[in-house]
Amino acid sequence: MSLRIHPLSYNLGAEITGVDFSRPQSEQNLALIHGAFLDHSVLLFRGQPVTREQHIAVSGWFGELESNDAAPVMRIENYPQILMVSHKPNPNWKPSDDYVGKVWHTDHSHTLHPAKATTLRGVEVPDIGGDTMFANMCLAYETLSDGMKKLLEGQHAIHPVGVHTRRIDKSSPQRMAESIRRNPPIAQPLVRVHPDTGRKALYLSVKLKQIVGMTPEESAPLLDYLCRHSEKPQFVYRHHWRKDDLLVWDNRCLMHMAVNDFDKTQTRYLERTVIKGTPSGYATT
Ligand code: SIN
Repeated sequence: MSLRIHPLSYNLGAEITGVDFSRPQSEQNLALIHGAFLDHSVLLFRGQPVTREQHIAVSGWFGELESNDAAPVMRIENYPQILMVSHKPNPNWKPSDDYVGKVWHTDHSHTLHPAKATTLRGVEVPDIGGDTMFANMCLAYETLSDGMKKLLEGQHAIHPVGVHTRRIDKSSPQRMAESIRRNPPIAQPLVRVHPDTGRKALYLSVKLKQIVGMTPEESAPLLDYLCRHSEKPQFVYRHHWRKDDLLVWDNRCLMHMAVNDFDKTQTRYLERTVIKGTPSGYATT
């Protein structure tokens, strides 16, 4: 079985075939996979009914794993490296109910060690919908005018931790206050240099409200423009989930979002690992 790389769209994503997850990989295969990760930013391994141990081992090909101490509620017993990303059918569900991950964002940008990569394994997926979309932020940056690139040079934006995220423990008012205190807003560069490729990428999230040194009102039109620019279809790959898909993506040059459009009487259950990144940004309080 020899490893092959099949691009999934013109600008982003590749499916890797010919990898047997039940065996250790050769140095040559690992180098090819890592090269494809840097070239395509999203890798898909299809039809891989892996165990949790294998999921953890495959994640380790990309670096050191997070143990998710900040999100204990979603951890899986005995597998601290794996988090549940889950919608289970719920008779009380209303269209307005929140669903984690449904806006464009990049993992852990509200921390001083934003994630290098994330992996997501499709354990149970709805028949239709519940896709995950990815935006290529290097292309988004490279297609800006020189004037806009100059305006963004050296600028930072504030990445808040939303109270609805898994990092905030809402089990009591005291715990909530403590976890908000432990997660102050972080200022991140608006343009980030990818540590492995040297390419520049916009570093955004729809949750951003303010550029450092500007008021929220002044910041909003620029942040809104940059997000809308980055979401253009030509920068985006949309992944339609199948059971036993394993996706790996590079948070250093992508935004992603889950599309909250599936039949809520069906289960969407994915398991996720996060690979640690390098330090970035500074705390604002
Ligand atoms: C996430 O935003 O980290 C999860 C993405 C998804 O549920 O597709």
